[in-house]
Amino acid sequence: MLKPRLKSTVLVSPLADGYVAYDTETDRLHRLNATASLIVELCDGTREIEQIESLVRALLPKDETAALRAWVSEALENDLLVSGHGKPTKHESLSADQLAKLADRLRERGKIQTAYLCQKQAAELKPECASKWADLGELAHIAGQREAARNSYEHYLTIEPDDAEVQHILVALRDEAPPSRMPDKCIQQLYERFSSFYDSNLIEELEYVVPEKLSEAIELVFPGRTDLKILDLGCGTGLSGERLRERAGVLDGIDLSSEMISMARKRNLYDSLEVAEITSWLKGAEAIIESEAGKRYDLIVACDTLIYFGDLSQVIQPASQLLKRGGAIAFSVERCEQPGYELTDSGRYAHHFEYIKQVARSAGLTVDVHHEEFLRMEYGEEVMGHIVVLSNRDRSLA
Ligand SMILES: C[S@@+](CC[C@H](N)C(=O)[O-])C[C@H]1O[C@@H](n2cnc3c(N)ncnc32)[C@H](O)[C@@H]1O
Repeated sequence: MLKPRLKSTVLVSPLADGYVAYDTETDRLHRLNATASLIVELCDGTREIEQIESLVRALLPKDETAALRAWVSEALENDLLVSGHGKPTKHESLSADQLAKLADRLRERGKIQTAYLCQKQAAELKPECASKWADLGELAHIAGQREAARNSYEHYLTIEPDDAEVQHILVALRDEAPPSRMPDKCIQQLYERFSSFYDSNLIEELEYVVPEKLSEAIELVFPGRTDLKILDLGCGTGLSGERLRERAGVLDGIDLSSEMISMARKRNLYDSLEVAEITSWLKGAEAIIESEAGKRYDLIVACDTLIYFGDLSQVIQPASQLLKRGGAIAFSVERCEQPGYELTDSGRYAHHFEYIKQVARSAGLTVDVHHEEFLRMEYGEEVMGHIVVLSNRDRSLA
């Protein structure tokens, strides 16, 4: 007697309108509507086709019951179902590690939905393995499954409670009130991990163009200048410095990540480099500059750095105090549609241009340049942002 069950190499996961089923053996993806999903649930190897029919019949219009048998036959032909006895074990053929590797390969090929299914099964088979949940959280985020991302990261945190990056992402995923900037521990952890492959990742994979875009904007404000005194906030490995050096008489850089500063040192571009947190450094510098006006800057740059700050006035206001007369602050931020700013599910902040204008006004600065531009790719999507130069040209310094 035929007792169909799901093939053991097939993984299923719910979608809004049914199931998606992926056969890890044949690399085949099946989309199932709500009825097909119910049939698949009932096909556990313990029920005969007639029993399944009688269970589903009540839910189907009369003329569709005949189609049920045809659907099961087709699913058997397509290897989605097999004829079997007794309950199938959970995914008999691949181990958790094999499934996770398969998820990696699928992700590399851009098959996010199927990668997610494999990773989900991997995490469920090895729930004590933290990295399986972190990878599942990221895949769920890319696949746009916000709740699944939150659940995965929450599970991960039960194993790794001190992970500052995941703590921060969960603030966004739980829609909690965001901190005014990404916590220092989180920046340090992120860039300790990222520094060794930052340049290749940003340039070769993410098509990062912010240094060029900012350089073009700076040229509009300081055409042809090569003698500027420049401060690079969040200089990182020095990708921004590459573009700034040709405009600089003096180029100073600061960054919170000692690993990123070490990479920047190797570039040999900067006159001085310091491991420091930006807001603390700016406060300290304000006091020094009050007594030594010669230390003021023509240009302060934050290239892809203010994406880690929600409240921009904590940087723009004190930075404006360090400018020479006719000085400028050039920066990029990611664009958000809603007023003000928001912490996005990526853990970075995004800003509305009206908010930027308001911060500039409060600091006594005017918007000299504003362009909306492509900044870089992320998970195959374009990230758009604001390229801005604010100056104190209209302000008389005391
Ligand atoms: C996306 S990277 C940009 C690096 C570089 N400007 C570039 O264009 O490649 C952001 C940098 O900002 C630094 N950063 C973020 N928040 C910071 C803070 N509060 N204080 C100092 N540096 C910070 C990070 O350590 C990181 O190196």
